[in-house]
Amino acid sequence: MGEFAGVLLVFLSCLVVTGRCRDDTFTEELLIRPLTSGHIYSHFEFTTTWTTPEITRSIDQYRDFEFSHYDLFPRAFGEIVERYHVRELHLSLTQGLWRHRKWGYPIVDAPPGAQLWVWFNPTSENLDQTWRDLVNALSGLVCASLNFIDSTNTVSPELSYRPQGLAEEWYAGNSSYMRYAALPRENVCTENLTPWKKLLPCDTQSGLSMLLHPVPLYTAHYHALSLHLRPSCKDVSCSSVHLELTQALSLVQGPTLSSSGHQDWSLQQLFSTQLIYTCPLASMSKIYVDVTGNRDMKKFTLDPEPDIFDESGSGPSLRQLAVYDVQAALAGDGFNIEATYKSRHIYGIIPSPHLHVSRFITGYGQEGGSITVKFTNSGSTSLSVVYLEVLPWYLRLFLHTSHSYSHTKSPVYISKLVTARDREQGWLYEAVVEIPASSTIELSLDFTRALLKWLEYPPDANHGFYIPAATISAVLPTPRNVSVNSLTCSTLKDKLVVQDGPSFVRLHTETLLVSLPTPDFSMPYNVICLACTVVALAFGPIHNITTKKLVLKKIENKESSFSRIVHRVKNIFKRGHKVENDCVEKDATKEQVIVEENPLYEDREDLEDITEEDEDEVKTSNKTENSQETKKDR
Ligand SMILES: *[C@@H]1O[C@H](CO)[C@@H](O)[C@H](O)[C@H]1NC(C)=O
Ligand SMILES: *[C@@H]1O[C@H](CO)[C@@H](O)[C@H](O)[C@H]1NC(C)=O
Ligand SMILES: *[C@@H]1O[C@H](CO)[C@@H](O)[C@H](O)[C@H]1NC(C)=O
Ligand SMILES: *[C@@H]1O[C@H](CO)[C@@H](O)[C@H](O)[C@H]1NC(C)=O
Repeated sequence: MGEFAGVLLVFLSCLVVTGRCRDDTFTEELLIRPLTSGHIYSHFEFTTTWTTPEITRSIDQYRDFEFSHYDLFPRAFGEIVERYHVRELHLSLTQGLWRHRKWGYPIVDAPPGAQLWVWFNPTSENLDQTWRDLVNALSGLVCASLNFIDSTNTVSPELSYRPQGLAEEWYAGNSSYMRYAALPRENVCTENLTPWKKLLPCDTQSGLSMLLHPVPLYTAHYHALSLHLRPSCKDVSCSSVHLELTQALSLVQGPTLSSSGHQDWSLQQLFSTQLIYTCPLASMSKIYVDVTGNRDMKKFTLDPEPDIFDESGSGPSLRQLAVYDVQAALAGDGFNIEATYKSRHIYGIIPSPHLHVSRFITGYGQEGGSITVKFTNSGSTSLSVVYLEVLPWYLRLFLHTSHSYSHTKSPVYISKLVTARDREQGWLYEAVVEIPASSTIELSLDFTRALLKWLEYPPDANHGFYIPAATISAVLPTPRNVSVNSLTCSTLKDKLVVQDGPSFVRLHTETLLVSLPTPDFSMPYNVICLACTVVALAFGPIHNITTKKLVLKKIENKESSFSRIVHRVKNIFKRGHKVENDCVEKDATKEQVIVEENPLYEDREDLEDITEEDEDEVKTSNKTENSQETKKDR
């Protein structure tokens, strides 16, 4: 009774003091999009929002957030945000490469490996130190090796990573408040998924997160986990603001062709499990299936029928979504969506999206080389793109050839350039490139490779060194091929609404693997192995010879009484050979053999017992069975 009263009191005081205790919301959404290439793209978004009067003040005045209580917001993450003056944070952990040419643009683009970019509140503290502490705290939170981020791979680009949430121009334009780093070598696995799932209010016990079964996730072609924190508007008019944490998970699974060649899929098949319980804390729980061009269900049918169809955009940027409300659908037992195709899947040439980029290393040998980026604009107007390259210091760039106008007829303006300092700072090369309509241009950055100190090489030095992905940001004139162009909205449902007009996209290229001149680390081991073998081969015989003495030894007739009887019986049957056998036996008993004996390998106690006289006796006597027996008795 006392407990109940306590809970009631807390609840009432909560209502009285803030008046808006349940203003925090949690929504969960899933988009499933069958891609033209036959793959299935699934994107989960879990959004938690946080509103209090203090938060509003913090956002407006660029002050640190103060979480007086945690309701739906994950406490472990909130404490980090509060402590390290974070205003906006974007972290992604990705396995695999998103193929823009085949799959179009994703909802959130992420480079292979880990990527982190953070906007800090203006503070009097040293931002570099705060960044280092934040990185260590986050690496503990998500179990990733973010602690490898240091001054050599941290940069503050000017244009590529502007704030995505609310920010005034004086703040958004000052890159000294932001830090960006990428770790291309990071591997993503269940150890990252588990802490990420723990940040969800319902964990994986109920709701859409029930579908996050590790096996289908980690056998997928592409898999990206991300965390995005930003201050954003509550509604279109922006009358009130809140803090928004989006946890997203993207997945691209291979074509699940049935035996008849149809591209059929179902939730059960994609995620190895069905939906059984709803998350009671979620205010919205929805699944969208992209049915663009299939509104009349001519291509594939969905079972069960969707609740409603959503349509937005027009012409080539039309988007049609089938919407399922999971909370309503889960009234009965398990929930599954099945798509059944009418005809076989045909693999063909997929028209490429408006802008796509690829990057590769050219040159040969261990000395020089060049990083080449190829931009392709398939649109009918020219495009300005921002190209950001963050390179480690051990690639020494030749800037006089990089932005030469000779390879490309289009101008390149460098917006920010930070030159590297050995072991202290990496390169930051940010340029604005103009790509003419329907054309491809190539830009290259020449470099030579530095020699590292021998302790700076990783354990598998011959594997090579990973170079982080380049970032390409552009504003496309139309929303064609763009997954999300309403960036200010909070929920996936609103983001997926196509808005006509310019659309921002940010792409990441491939990571590169560069081999540096590497000393032959196996050489010392080879020498040691060879020397040891020689010593071992020589030592054995030398030791054997120097510690050995020669003794006489008679070959004993080891036949037991039983075998002797058997022998006799045999002889009875083979009388013809008897004489011969006897001769052989006699010879054997007569023969005396000199055997080398190593006293070191004999029993030590026996050795001590043998006196000088005994030795003589042994040497001179014919070792008959009798003498052996007498020796043993002693
Ligand atoms: C990009 O949009 C065009 C025009 O709508 C379409 O033909 C093409 O298939 C799309 N490409 C991808 C990869 O989605
Ligand atoms: C950016 O912010 C820093 C720190 O507040 C300040 O010193 C610097 O002058 C600002 N730069 C610009 C271009 O406003
Ligand atoms: C020592 O020499 C004897 C006879 O040559 C040989 O049987 C024995 O294996 C040798 N021992 C070692 C340790 O080499
Ligand atoms: C060893 O045996 C032979 C023949 O059996 C014998 O002539 C010889 O005297 C024996 N030697 C000793 C020391 O007993």
